[in-house]
Amino acid sequence: MTTDSSHASPLAPEWLALPEDLNALQSPMWAAGVEKNDAGEVAIDGISVKELKEQFGTPLFVMSESDFRSRARAFKDAFDAAFADICGGVDVYYAGKSFLCTAVASWVAEEGLRLDTCSGGELAVAARAGIEGRNLGLHGNNKSDAEINRALDMHVGRIVVDSLDELERVAKIASSRGETAKVMLRLTPGVHAHTHEFIATAHEDQKFGLSMAEDSTEEAGLSAAEEAVAAATSYSSIELLGLHCHIGSQIFEPDGFAVAGEKLLRFLSAMQSKYSIVLPELDLGGGYGIAYTPVDTPRPPAEIAQAMAAVVRSTCAELGIAAPRISIEPGRAIVGSTTFTLYEVGTLKTVRVDAPGGDAEQENVTYPRRYVSVDGGMSDNARPVLYDADYSAILASRSSTAAPQLSRVVGKHCESGDIVVRDVYLPADVAAGDLLAVPGTGAYCWALSSNYNYLARPGVVAVRDGAARLIVRGETEEDLLNRDMGVANV
Ligand code: LLP
Repeated sequence: MTTDSSHASPLAPEWLALPEDLNALQSPMWAAGVEKNDAGEVAIDGISVKELKEQFGTPLFVMSESDFRSRARAFKDAFDAAFADICGGVDVYYAGKSFLCTAVASWVAEEGLRLDTCSGGELAVAARAGIEGRNLGLHGNNKSDAEINRALDMHVGRIVVDSLDELERVAKIASSRGETAKVMLRLTPGVHAHTHEFIATAHEDQKFGLSMAEDSTEEAGLSAAEEAVAAATSYSSIELLGLHCHIGSQIFEPDGFAVAGEKLLRFLSAMQSKYSIVLPELDLGGGYGIAYTPVDTPRPPAEIAQAMAAVVRSTCAELGIAAPRISIEPGRAIVGSTTFTLYEVGTLKTVRVDAPGGDAEQENVTYPRRYVSVDGGMSDNARPVLYDADYSAILASRSSTAAPQLSRVVGKHCESGDIVVRDVYLPADVAAGDLLAVPGTGAYCWALSSNYNYLARPGVVAVRDGAARLIVRGETEEDLLNRDMGVANV
């Protein structure tokens, strides 16, 4: 049905507009290939959510493989094109922390991207997927000796060193192996970007990276970043490839990337002159934002790429240096929108809530908020709890002509903060057994999932060319008990 303003709830946050059509999928939150079929069900590549539920159960992560591949390629193509005349193209490292399994790692490689890892476990997935070491990067602020050794065993293309302490450790380990470690230095450029803004003041008070602030080491006037460059050039077991920064996540405006890029280039140029070295690479990290709700406005990769290329081009010209080879590390912007989570609705309840804002005239006026419980929750999507993240949802298993009702989609955990979608208009007739789909769950949902309350983590289904297959199976009760040593061992 078409909605009218009388259905709007005063409890809804300001940004949440009443959708014109509750049955319509609102772009750009959904993967390409997701649509409503003639029966009014959400379908992906022609496969309806009911079929998916029947075959794989719920909750379920449903990922479009074709969409993943085309988003990965879009980043690679857009950045290659924008930087072609500057440094011959860009190396795009997919940030595996956002979502990683062997199938995804192999798609990344097939689409011409590299893979950014940040633990021994992620390296293990890359190895299992057959990714060549030279196409891997290893991050982390606290890499263990075992992880550093593993990276060297795998001949990873770059270890991104996070601290002076670690630089020394990598140098020692490589030296004891009679090898040279390829290293980049992660710097904190003092640019802290957030979704709609960036703050170009020092953001030093965090665990990552080497500070570029002049007074950041005990040696007067030398920044930790410079001290690391000087040290790296003095170790014969270190090949210093260049510099790296990552300014934050879910960022829409390209300005923050540009400011950080310029700052790193100036530093890179100064270091090249001062230490008579060449730093051939510069990585500008990831962090490009996606749409979780209809009001989010992600930028197309080409727009971001051109903005960043313009700054690299002009700064290098001004400094009179050859541009280093640029790399980036998008995670969320590649995988986030490829996936929706499919849930089954269970318990429903409606509560009456006071008017917001404490309006005296509205005293004693209450409004309904409906709680729609689904069969997953904070164990498959911790982002609302961790970051107050907003999501959206649609009734996926049928169309409805009922009026919109402000709803809160919650999970089944023993925790009142267990919210999946804080505020969404859903048809008033949503009932137990209906299926809900929550878009934009490809990044940092499965990756952050847990077994809280002994819930089994959902599987991940990939859909391509009209066929669905599991790329990660869901956990079973047996899996849940697998590591429990049993009463005999107590
Ligand atoms: N490179 C580095 C060094 C990073 O630390 C990250 C993310 C990325 C690349 C990829 O960022 P992306 O393009 O995916 O935004 N769990 C949080 C996000 C944590 C991001 C950690 N680092 C969330 O769910 O919002």
